[in-house]
Amino acid sequence: METIYLTPQTNPSAVQTAGDLLRAGEVVGIPTETVYGLAANALDPVAVHKIFAAKGRPADNPLIIHIAEFEQIHNLVSCIPDAAWQLAAAFWPGPLTMILPKSDLVPAVVSAGLDTVGIRMPNHALACAVISAAGVPLAAPSANTSGRPSTTTAQHVLQDMQGKIAAVVEGGRCAVGVESTIVSLVGEVPRLLRPGGISLEMLQDVLGKVEVDRAVTEQIGDEVRVSAPGMKYRHYAPHAPVTVLVGDPIATAAYMHTHAQAGDGILCFDEFADDFSAQVLHKLGKTDAYAEHAQHLFDALRLFDDSDVPTIYAQCPPEQGIGLAVANRLKKAAGFVVVHVS
Ligand code: TXA
Ligand code: MG
Repeated sequence: METIYLTPQTNPSAVQTAGDLLRAGEVVGIPTETVYGLAANALDPVAVHKIFAAKGRPADNPLIIHIAEFEQIHNLVSCIPDAAWQLAAAFWPGPLTMILPKSDLVPAVVSAGLDTVGIRMPNHALACAVISAAGVPLAAPSANTSGRPSTTTAQHVLQDMQGKIAAVVEGGRCAVGVESTIVSLVGEVPRLLRPGGISLEMLQDVLGKVEVDRAVTEQIGDEVRVSAPGMKYRHYAPHAPVTVLVGDPIATAAYMHTHAQAGDGILCFDEFADDFSAQVLHKLGKTDAYAEHAQHLFDALRLFDDSDVPTIYAQCPPEQGIGLAVANRLKKAAGFVVVHVS
């Protein structure tokens, strides 16, 4: 199939076309404030199966459902605990997904057989316009081939999905750049399953106690039953192996300087860019520009695949605020090959 490139910026009927395709059971790439999503009608199992096929996604990895208005949640979940009301008031629309007990209306293919479902209301005018035009909630994972870095531009989506989906909606570069924070509200204590644009500190300010799932900081083996099934797969990965360097930026830059061969890949803070003229270099942003690191991360990881780098060294920001999300994605891209430099 020819993937239609829809540009609402110049074409007034683009959003309606996307909505029509979605209602007809097709898959459409849509922008959100976090990353691009691969959307289909969440209530149509046949349409949702097409998402799994286009991504090559394992069937045991559930999808999150996107809504444009809070009222849409009532059909999708069987109860809304107090914590969910509080988080919605504080952070929706925004980069936060809540895991809640699912209703019978949500097909098993969406939740991968779990009795819970992830719900998110994106803070993105075009995403919400497409959801409204479709007239149904949209299941949408990140719009990358399974295992590859997530997509933060429509061009990234076309790199992975050309010919595999009906259309992609142009929405420019994603503002946040890493996927939404996922918090599970089905246990006694709220649990952070994936760090993202809403930081752990922000969740704690609203909820008090929040547990952090092991999968956020550690490699989880196949034998372990994980709370967010997606977290057990190698992810976000460029073709070359990645080594993540944790520690003071001057020390990690020095480490790269001694260890990197000519032609290796370097992902570094801007201040150190001049030190690596013999290497293939992509920049994260200034050392303390934490939001920029998130914006540049996936684009940089994808760019390394344009050159045949044998290995990549990456500087890691501190694990606080959005830095926890960037560090998590970097470590997963590296299969948790991490060197602590002192
Ligand atoms: O920002 C985002 O969340 C983006 C945009 C498109 O909204 N979407 C996204 O979806 O990142 P995806 O499928 O790439 O990542 C969703 C993660 C997966 O790791 C999945 O295992 C987990 O959420 N997940 C989904 N439903 C779940 C559930 N019921 N319980 C636990 N984890 C769940
Ligand atoms: Mg993903």
